Amino acid sequence: MYEEVIEKYKNTVKGSENLHFNAKHYLTMHSHAVSLSNPTILELGVQSGNSTKLFLNALGDSQKGALVSVDIDNCSGVASSSKWTFIRSDSADVENIVTEAPILKNGIDILFIDSLHTTKHVYKELYGFFPYIKKGGVIFFDDIDSAPYCEGSELDSYYVELENRRILKFINCVFESNMQQLDLTIYRGWTGLGRLDKRSELYSELLPPQSLKIRKSKKFWKIKRSLKKRNLWRW
Ligand SMILES: C[S@@+](CC[C@H](N)C(=O)[O-])C[C@H]1O[C@@H](n2cnc3c(N)ncnc32)[C@H](O)[C@@H]1O
Repeated sequence: MYEEVIEKYKNTVKGSENLHFNAKHYLTMHSHAVSLSNPTILELGVQSGNSTKLFLNALGDSQKGALVSVDIDNCSGVASSSKWTFIRSDSADVENIVTEAPILKNGIDILFIDSLHTTKHVYKELYGFFPYIKKGGVIFFDDIDSAPYCEGSELDSYYVELENRRILKFINCVFESNMQQLDLTIYRGWTGLGRLDKRSELYSELLPPQSLKIRKSKKFWKIKRSLKKRNLWRW
């Protein structure tokens, strides 16, 4: 099913152009989905159904596995499969989505976040669905690399550049305050792909994101250290 979508990415990944990364990121999600025997997948953001078809292909022809896809627009016509449930909803409305697709309460193996790319929205999606992710489950985030949106770059957009950078910073902060239950992988290139692996039990929750206290100037800290050594630092 939808073999042509996978073939397209397999051909593109061999190329040298930017789309190589895009194809690589899609194939990363595909091979993870293929490696699972009976996965429940939740996809936030459908549009023309590229990722929908990719996940349906990964589920294969057996009766096992389910894909639940959510979009604010009516995307019910982009794919067709007995394993597929489309829900028209705001993807941050977790309660409504879980009520419409109760299978999610048994645990999600893959969550793909690719709807409204703002930090506030991604926050609601991640914190809202995290308890439903199984131990060993994976959360993928699309659009976390701002490089192609920088001034003069291929997709030049100050808005997306700044928002993607904020989303990446947010994911890093979530990881830094939840290292006891998460692994983080960042795939660079094109618009990027983030991956959080959950190491804690189903229904465990995320602690709030917290920024580490980062130092900015080597010169300042060098002077501070030398003043402290001489007992001249009073602040
Ligand atoms: C980048 S596209 C999704 C692409 C798709 N995942 C793929 O890889 O082919 C983003 C989608 O998010 C949807 N969207 C935007 N805001 C949303 C929201 N608040 N709730 C749910 N979906 C939303 C848009 O309608 C659009 O179809």
